[in-house]
Formats: sequence, structure tokens, C-alpha cells
Amino acid sequence: MKDEIILSGMQPTGQLHLGNYEGALKNWVNLQDDYEMYCCIVDWHSLTSDFDDTEGLKDRIIQMATDFLAAGLDPSKCAIFIQSEVKEHAELHLLFSMITPLSWLERVPSYKDKAKELGLDSYGFLGYPLLQAADILVYRADKVPVGKDQLPHIELTREVARRFNFLYGDTFPEPKALLTKFPVVPGIDGRKMSKSYENDIRIADSPEDTAKKLKKMFTDPEKLRRGDAGHPDICPVYALHKIYTPNHQEIVQPCESGELGCVDCKKRLTENINKTLEPIRQKRSELNNRQDYIMDMLKDGARRARKRASAVMEDVRKVMRIDW
Ligand code: TRP
Repeated sequence: MKDEIILSGMQPTGQLHLGNYEGALKNWVNLQDDYEMYCCIVDWHSLTSDFDDTEGLKDRIIQMATDFLAAGLDPSKCAIFIQSEVKEHAELHLLFSMITPLSWLERVPSYKDKAKELGLDSYGFLGYPLLQAADILVYRADKVPVGKDQLPHIELTREVARRFNFLYGDTFPEPKALLTKFPVVPGIDGRKMSKSYENDIRIADSPEDTAKKLKKMFTDPEKLRRGDAGHPDICPVYALHKIYTPNHQEIVQPCESGELGCVDCKKRLTENINKTLEPIRQKRSELNNRQDYIMDMLKDGARRARKRASAVMEDVRKVMRIDW
């Protein structure tokens, strides 16, 4: 029997890239055997910034769910669902909004930066981390696998749980972040891999697309041709070798001496990335165009999530004395 609960969430950005895979998804796949797990595709969160772009949302959700299954998330072990299919998240968010001082939200570090950067000033955007707290606490989750950028949101979640417990009696655990170490995954321009930078390599890419993208990838700027001495420690191609090439140390010396050129080095990397992704891509191609199957799977996940969330909400209404 699994006695601890994990809630994880991801915004529906569509097809996942290697950064999403190495940074989150691979870890989720490992956790599903040891925890009771809920994997939430947070469509409401995506509306806090992309409220005017809802047309492609369904496709982005399906593409992402397809990648989840291809990478090995198993719907029999882990409830995969769309946030807005479990209305209890919204109800808990509303109740939390009554007990959360505005200043707690205004001081969340991502808020001011992002508000400026994206020109967002909506009520919903300010409430982003509070909705996240509701996502987590509506399952009474014990642990939340996240990257360190999310730590302030987990801290807020703990504060809200503590305040609720103080006001109405012990109801929620204080969930912990499950920080897992994962490698930095550079994109083909050397910056952090990101869909919005258009520098990503996707799970769904064909081996040929992958080769084409890697051919264009930035390398050590001082190594212009074979023969020039390279510096693997600053080379983004080498950063990917570290993840995908088992004996990557063997490349260091020939790169530094100039014996190994970038073209050959990239060829090796391409082979290794394609080899690693082969089984995932194979599974993905079997699932592609099975929209109905994916939607049914998400509906079933929502049904299981709702079962737990509605029981927690009954307790919440009871302790708040609004269980009419
Ligand atoms: N804010 C998270 C991110 O950008 C997404 C998210 C929403 C989330 N709700 C969550 C993550 C609950 C973990 C738990 O990555």
C-alpha cells in the first residue's frame, strides 16, 4: 500500500522537449511506483497569461498527455487529468482567497517580475500561486516534485495550510517540495531549452529533425574548424553529451586536442539522443491520432482525482461550518 501522496502539475504547453523530459517527466515516471500520484494538467493556470489563446488548448493538452504516456507514465498507477475537470480546485482556491492576505501574494518573487515582463495585472494572475496551493492541498498531498523556481510557491502553500489549520482546526498537511537534481539542458542556441526560445528538441521530433537541429547547434565559439582546440566545459553540445553519451569523458581529450571536429561530435550526439528516445518515440507514434483514447484516459483520471478531492472538500466545509 502506498501511503504518501504526490501531486504534480504542468502547464499545457503542447509537445514536450528534452528539458521538460529531463527536468520533470522522467522523475514523475520514477515516482509513480512508490507514491499515490496525481498528475494535473493545469489549464486554468495557463489562462492566467494565455487567456486570449484558448483555441489550441485542447490540442496542447492532448499532445502533452501523449508525451506523458509515451515517456512511461502509467494511468493505472497515476491519475492523469485536466485541472478544470475537477472543480474542487476552484472551490478551495476561492475559500483560500478569503484567508490569504494580499501582501502574501504580492511578495511572491515571480509575481512582480512576471507582471512587468508580461504586462499582466489581472486578479487571476496575482492568485496564480494560491490556485497552485489549492491544487496541492485539495489532495492533502505530502510531496510536490518541482524545480527550485517553484520553491516560493510551495512555501506559500505551507503558509496557507498553516493559517487554515490555525483558523479552523487541523485539516491539511504542510506539503514538502521534492527537489530532484537534474541536469541543465541547453537548447540549440546554447540558452536554456525552452519552447518560447524556439531552440528545443522535442520528444515528438523525428530522428531526422533531431539531426537537422543538432547540426545547427552552437558549440564552443573558439572552435571554428577541426584542428582548433575546443573547450567542452563551455560547449552546449558537450552539455548534452553529458546527459546522453554514456562514456562522454572520452570525448574531452580529442575535442581539446582538435582531433575531434564538431561535425563528428554532433553526429555521435545525434545517434545517442535518437537511441535514447527511440522507445519513447515508438510508443508515441502508436498513440498518435488516438485522441479519443487519450481523452478517455484523462476523463478516468479526473474521476479518480475527483473522488479524493471531493472527500477533502467535505472535510473543509465541515470544519468551516459551511456544510449546509
Ligand atoms: N506553477 C507550476 C509551473 O509553472 C505549475 C503548477 C500548477 C504546479 N499547479 C501545480 C506544479 C501544483 C506543482 C504542483 O511549473
